[in-house]
This record gives sequence, C-alpha cells and structure tokens, in this order.
Amino acid sequence: MKIAVTAASGKLGKAIIRELIAETGVENIVAIARNTGAPHLDSLDVRKGDYNKQEDFIKALDGVEKLIIISSSSEPDERIEQHRNIIKAAKFRNIKRIIYSSIIGNQDKTMFSNVVKSNRQTEKDIIDSGIPYTICRNGLYIDPDLEYIPHYIKDGAIINCAGDGIVSYTSRDELAYAYSKIAISKNHINKIYNLTGSPVTQAELAQQINSVYNTSLSFVDITPEEYMKSRKESLGSFVGSIIGGIYESIRQNHFNVKSDFKKITGRKHKTVKEMITEYKNKTL
Ligand SMILES: NC(=O)c1ccc[n+]([C@@H]2O[C@H](COP(=O)([O-])OP(=O)(O)OC[C@H]3O[C@@H](n4cnc5c(N)ncnc54)[C@H](OP(=O)(O)O)[C@@H]3O)[C@@H](O)[C@H]2O)c1
Repeated sequence: MKIAVTAASGKLGKAIIRELIAETGVENIVAIARNTGAPHLDSLDVRKGDYNKQEDFIKALDGVEKLIIISSSSEPDERIEQHRNIIKAAKFRNIKRIIYSSIIGNQDKTMFSNVVKSNRQTEKDIIDSGIPYTICRNGLYIDPDLEYIPHYIKDGAIINCAGDGIVSYTSRDELAYAYSKIAISKNHINKIYNLTGSPVTQAELAQQINSVYNTSLSFVDITPEEYMKSRKESLGSFVGSIIGGIYESIRQNHFNVKSDFKKITGRKHKTVKEMITEYKNKTL
C-alpha cells in the first residue's frame, strides 16, 4: 500500500511523513516535492512534483494507492489550477483515494475568504472527479503564534483585531497525527471532516502563554482596518491581507467549528496549554 504525500518538503508534509513512517513503515511512503533535496527526505522514495506541472504528477503517482494533497500556498486562483493538475494525474493513475488538506472558514466575509473559496473549489473538483476522497478542513495552526512569542514579549501584548472571537487552534503535529490515521484506515471514504482543537479567545491564548512562559502578556484589540494596514506594511499586500483576513475571520467567529479530531484519532486533541508547553520544550 503506497501512500504519497505532496509538498513533502514543507513543514506539514514533513510532520505527516514522520507519523506515516511510524504507522506503516518507510517502504510504504512516497514523498512528492518540488524541492526534492530537503534533508528530511533523504532516506525516502522521493519523486518530483511541481503543482504547475501535471506531467510531474503523472510520473510521481506511479504505483501509488492513496494520495495526501497538501494545499498550495500560491495565490487563490492559481491554487485551483495547480490542484486540478494533481487531481487529473490522480484520475489518470487510478488513485484509490485522495485525502485533501483543506481549510475551515467562511467563503465571502473577509479578506481570507478567497483562500477558503479556492479550497472549496478544490473540494468540489475532487468530488466531481469520482475518486473516493476524505476532505479534511484544517483549523488554524497555533505554530506561527508560538514562533511569534518573542515579538509578543517585546510588545508586552498580543495585538490584533480578533476581538472576543473564538478560534479552535490545532498544530501541524496534531494534524499530522490525524492525517496518518486517516491514510492508513479503510474508513473515512467520501467524508468531510473538521480537524480542529479546543476553542480559545486571544485573551485566553495570552493567559495560556503567560502560564507556560511566566510572562505577563495582555491582549490588545485593534480595529480590522488598523490591523490590516499594519500587516500589509510589514508583510506586503498578499501575505498581509491573508494574515489580516485570518484575524478578521476569528473576530467573526469563522474558526469556531465542531471538531472531528477525536472521532478520527480515538483521542482528545491536545489543549492549547499542552501545545504551548510542547513547543517550549522543543525550542529550549
Ligand atoms: N491552517 C493553517 O493555519 C495554515 C497556515 C499556513 C499554511 N497553511 C496551508 O497549509 C499548507 C502547508 O503548510 P506548511 O506549514 O507545510 O507550509 P510550508 O512549510 O511553507 O510549506 C509549503 C510547501 O508547499 C510547497 N509548494 C509551494 N508551491 C509549490 C508548487 N508550485 N509545487 C509543489 N510544491 C509547492 C513548498 O515546496 P518548496 O519546498 O519547493 O517551496 C513546501 O513544501 C500551505 O501550503 C497552506 O496552503 C495552512
């Protein structure tokens, strides 16, 4: 049973491959990557896969039974065509199941909605292809927030426009665990799941960071307009509007959804405090 993972050079791909190796053995894994030289791919069956090149995937999917597609990070319109390249190659290769890493969220209310909309289009393209599927709508990763802790400490606060909105944070490691369970299972055919953790506000996130790092961060709420302006100035228009749109989405409670994590994995999702503690221990 060969299971292939796309974007294997990235952080989520790396984590999923690590979990799959533990579940099923290295001989069953095919790592598909645009950058085939990433060090963590060294001992694996690595195959070239640029999302812009359908022909790469026609070759890369030879002998593969199940395919985990990690969504592209390109501009939303570009992603749809990139994902179609992979889906068409999967159809040609008679892949038995596609497992797609999608995203939770609302399709038309914020600057993040175009990203959500493009993911929903890919979900539809997969369903329309007739290939059996499991669509997993990922929650927001907590990892970038944790990497940002030194900035929060410098500012003395978490500053964004999330208001009292609730977000059910997950992490790449928790997602990887769920993806590996789904990939090795015979179940989950033609299902759509939310892979999210336990819900918190930004003020609660600040408290949890304080309790692990012994800091005294507060949460400062600013307007979506102010936050969007500052993100675009720091990160450029494309990334800035995505980040601004994510916090606007939290403010509007778009990331507060019922989780299917326990149903799939058989265990509770880690709490925010557990994820912060693990991150601290890893980075000490
Ligand atoms: N839920 C969330 O909070 C959240 C947050 C961030 C991102 N995401 C989504 O989750 C995906 C994976 O996240 P991550 O943490 O693994 O991101 P990451 O570490 O930045 O990795 C992105 C991966 O996408 C690959 N990629 C980009 N363009 C490609 C192309 N044209 N063809 C083939 N591969 C391409 C990169 O390959 P190279 O090594 O060749 O560049 C890399 O492997 C992202 O792409 C994004 O859609 C979700």
